[in-house]
Amino acid sequence: MCSCDPPPEEPKVSIDWKHVLVKRSEFLKLVTTVCAGFIGFVIAIPCIGFAFEYFLVPRREDWIKVGPLADYEVGKTVDVVFTDTTGTPWDGVSAKRSAWLRRVNESRFEAFAVNCTHLGCPVRWEAGAELFLCPCHGGVYYGDGKVAGGPPPRPLHQYPTRIANGQVEIKVGPVLAEG
Ligand code: FES
Repeated sequence: MCSCDPPPEEPKVSIDWKHVLVKRSEFLKLVTTVCAGFIGFVIAIPCIGFAFEYFLVPRREDWIKVGPLADYEVGKTVDVVFTDTTGTPWDGVSAKRSAWLRRVNESRFEAFAVNCTHLGCPVRWEAGAELFLCPCHGGVYYGDGKVAGGPPPRPLHQYPTRIANGQVEIKVGPVLAEG
């Protein structure tokens, strides 16, 4: 090689940007997938919490005083209003409950939930007929809560009751017994 020859050209290095950057459509697909996954995750947290709450959060029960024993006459059914203390502090007025309380004899009471077992309408006590009547679809219950007629599938639900220190008490909690 003669010294007058021009130096050999350096090979050109060029970047193939097609392999370095993803296409715009692929980038948008990736962003959409990440966003959808994040939103799904955020929504799933309370749903999972709700599903497992029944098993993980211990049930609370409480005995609520509804008045002195002497206030109730044997054979009479009256409505009692009380505050359910087993709820949450922000329940407000929705913690107010009522029940039909019946003094069966000197030492025994029955407390019925006011909601009809058909679709939940409040039943009222007709003292003259000795029946609970549901205004929604004509459900009728006997004084002991058993179904007398109409569509209700089950007797009225009952709260456990007791007498303690001369006071009648109703047990509140999440599950009511079938009458
Ligand atoms: S809700 Fe009481 S009979 Fe239907």
